[in-house]
Parts: sequence; structure tokens; C-alpha cells
Amino acid sequence: MKLNSILVALTVTLLAGVTAAQIDAFHPRKKLRPAAPMQRPLPGGAPQFGDALPGLDAVSRQAFVLGREEFEAVETAAGGLGPIFNGKSCVECHSDGATGGASVITVTRFGRMLNGKFDPMDQFGGSLLQRFAIDPAAQEHVPVEATVVAQRMATPIFGAGLIEAIADQDILLNAQRRQADGVQGRVSMVTDVVSGKQRVGRFGWKAQQATLLAFSGDAYVNEMGITNRFFPKENAPNGNAALLARFDLVADVEDAVDPATGKGDIDHAADFMRLLAPPPPLRLSVSAAAGGKLFSQINCNSCHLPVMMTGANRLPALSYQPVALFSDLLLHNMGALGDGIEQGNAKGSDIRTAPLWGLRARTRFLHDGRATTLGDAVLGHAGEGAVARDRFKALSAVQKQQLFDYLKSI
Ligand code: HEC
Ligand code: HEC
Repeated sequence: MKLNSILVALTVTLLAGVTAAQIDAFHPRKKLRPAAPMQRPLPGGAPQFGDALPGLDAVSRQAFVLGREEFEAVETAAGGLGPIFNGKSCVECHSDGATGGASVITVTRFGRMLNGKFDPMDQFGGSLLQRFAIDPAAQEHVPVEATVVAQRMATPIFGAGLIEAIADQDILLNAQRRQADGVQGRVSMVTDVVSGKQRVGRFGWKAQQATLLAFSGDAYVNEMGITNRFFPKENAPNGNAALLARFDLVADVEDAVDPATGKGDIDHAADFMRLLAPPPPLRLSVSAAAGGKLFSQINCNSCHLPVMMTGANRLPALSYQPVALFSDLLLHNMGALGDGIEQGNAKGSDIRTAPLWGLRARTRFLHDGRATTLGDAVLGHAGEGAVARDRFKALSAVQKQQLFDYLKSI
């Protein structure tokens, strides 16, 4: 028995070692590593921001470490970056608190209303603007024809694997709950590029992606200009095919799959995000506990549902786990707070209920970062959020502070 378990442990270690070596040997694209090391997991104790989920086996821990390296790797033009891009690494925009966090960096979306319908202006390179280019001649601009221009902040990814592991059915059930205050969330149905199936979207401000691998492929091509097996087409600068032909010098698909592991960069980044621990909650102070009561009394929890559960999952760390995300993962009509951009079945005024866990690692709030305080974030609620906002306004200064203390502890 004892020998057996030693052998198993040894095999796991060896396998993990071989995988790492093979990946390093295989890597066709040159990358620079960031100069300053990011926060690393503390040995032992409860997970902190940026740690792996607790209780992972050796293979998963190795996947987390390799994935984090990929997430932090700086891409170069010779390795496929661009021709147009918004960042050179994932961590550049996802670093608040630790690697995988949010950031105040925003990206620009544009579009226009045409005969009463939203046009994402595909032919002009919309709706996402790429802010940088490997050559100034390929530089994108917001077209003058655009009538809607919106900023979106980078969202945190802590606990994303738990959110991914919530069953579609449970999010659909949230949409069927009877709610007070004119609150009525709707699911965002999307076609998942990985499985080709209709799935419930849950990631992004518009709940535009259902899985982390799909989001990873999307981010690699749209934020960094790295084509991959799910997104094999490069973005043409403002839709200009001639400019693309001139500057797209690396053959597509740029993110090759290593035959030894069956994985490319998009898979490694997805592994990291999937295995990233949720934000660690703090012990509630007396004031924070009072704030928690207020949170439900004024019905913030009609949208910011405190807990959901994951379904069955092949990873025990993700299987039937509580997810204290403080979101119903539904789209809500937020009235004037909406950004005017349509994606999938999300209308211009629709925004996904922002998960509230880990807010204390952030300095700006709401989709475009317009709020610098939690109070301004709540006051910015409109549409379906107006009734709760007005109840918040009516709280005393002490009660408001209690609510903020709660929001900074969850
Ligand atoms: C230029 C900044 C930037 C870079 C670089 C970037 N992101 Fe993001 N990320 C964003 C923004 C902005 C959002 C919100 C997008 C939206 O909803 O429109 C986001 C959202 C996400 C989300 C959704 C999380 C959630 O729950 O809503 C994931 C997952 C993600 N990014 C992964 C990645 C990966 C993987 C990379 C590297 C390939 C990457 N990002 C690179 C800015 C960036
Ligand atoms: C109708 C649903 C709804 C209700 C009710 C609601 N919220 Fe929200 N909340 C949202 C949505 C949607 C967002 C994202 C809006 C955006 O970024 O434009 C959000 C964002 C937030 C944010 C900013 C999070 C971030 O990531 O920037 C905070 C803080 C917040 N809500 C707190 C509250 C509090 C406190 C209450 C109760 C007074 C409340 N909310 C009531 C839907 C709701």
C-alpha cells in the first residue's frame, strides 16, 4: 500500500516534470518574462488573492503554475503580437491584488445606431478598438461614423473556475425567481466556440462568454492579436484588409497546440484562471455584520445573490462547492448606466450583475470605472437598480459606513 502511494506520487511528479520540460522545449514563440515577480502563494494557510484553489492534486498545481507563467508572459511582434493589440500580456490588465485581478485599464468599444438598430461596425474593425499597433501605419482610430463610444474596465478573475462550474440550469433558475422592486434578470445565451453549444454566458460585463477557454481564445486574439484555433482570423486595422496583409507577418494560427500535451497558450491561461482561488473573505467586524443585514434589508441581494453552488465537476475542488460571488450572473436593464453597446442578446442598457467578492482589492468601480468610491458605485445604479439605490440614499451616514465595511469584507 505504502509503496503504491509512493509510486503514484513519484509518477505524478515525473509526469508534471516532463510536461513542463516539453512545453519549454516546444515553445515556438519567443517571450519576455516580466521583470518584477508577481505575488506568489504563501506556503500553507488559507488561500490569499492570487493563490490556487485549496486541495489541488500535483497535476493541477503544476497546471496552475504553468498557466500563470503564460498569463504573465510578455508577447512580442516576432511571436505574433498584433498587428493591432491592447496589451502585451494578460497580467498587464489583470493585476490588482495579485496576478489575475482587475485593473483600472479600460478598453474602448464603439458602434452606431443604424435605422434604430445597433451596428457593431464590423467593417470598421468594431466593436472593440485595438489601441496599439506594431507599426504606426496600422494604428486604429475610433471611426467618425461611430455614435456610441464606451470604456470598459478589466474585471477580476479570482474564483473564475467556480463561476464556470455553476450549472447553466442554476443561472436559468435565477431568472425565474419572482423579484420585488421591478427587478427582472435575463440570461445571456451565447454560442460557446469551444463546444459549439448554446450555453449560459457569465463572463464579461455583458456575460458574453460561457467558458474560460472561450474567453481565453477571445482575449488572445482581440487584446493581443494572437490567433488561435477558436479565433483563427486576425483583426484587420479598422477593417482594412490591405493594411492587415502588409503587417500580419506571422503565419496564422499563431498559438500552436503542443502535440505532447494537447495544449496551446490559450489552454494554459484557461487552466490558471480555472484554478485561481476565490477572493478570501475577511472575518466580519461588528460594523460589517450590521452592514450585511442592511445589504439584504434594502434588497441589494435581489441581484447580488450572495451564494450559488457549482454542479458536478471532474475536479473535486470545483465540484458542489459554494460560490460566494454576490451575483445572479444575469443581465439587468440598468437604464442610463448601460454602455449602449449590444453583444449577443445583451441590449445597450443591459449589464451583468457585477460579482462583489474581493471588492477591497479594487480602486475603481462600475463597468467604465467612473466610480472611485463604493458610495458612488451604488449611486450610479439606475434602471432596475433604482429602487435599491434610493433605499441606500435614505440610509444614515453610520449605516452607509456599515454597508461599506461589509462590502470590503466579502
Ligand atoms: C488591454 C487590457 C486587457 C488585456 C491585455 C487582457 N484583458 Fe482580460 N479583460 C479586459 C477587460 C476590459 C475585460 C472586460 C471585458 C468586457 O466585458 O467587455 C476583461 C475581462 C476578462 C475576463 C472576464 C472575467 C469576468 O468574470 O468577467 C477574462 C476571463 C479575461 N479578461 C481573461 C484575459 C486573458 C486570458 C488575457 C490574456 C490573453 C486577458 N484577459 C488580457 C482587459 C484586458
Ligand atoms: C437590479 C440589480 C441590482 C441591484 C438591485 C443592485 N445592484 Fe449593484 N450592480 C448591478 C449591476 C448590473 C452592476 C454593474 C453595473 C455597471 O458596472 O455598470 C452592479 C455594480 C455594483 C457595484 C460595483 C461593482 C464593480 O465591480 O464595479 C457595487 C459596489 C454594487 N453594485 C453594490 C450594490 C449595492 C450595495 C446594492 C444595494 C443598494 C446594489 N448594488 C443593488 C446590479 C444591481
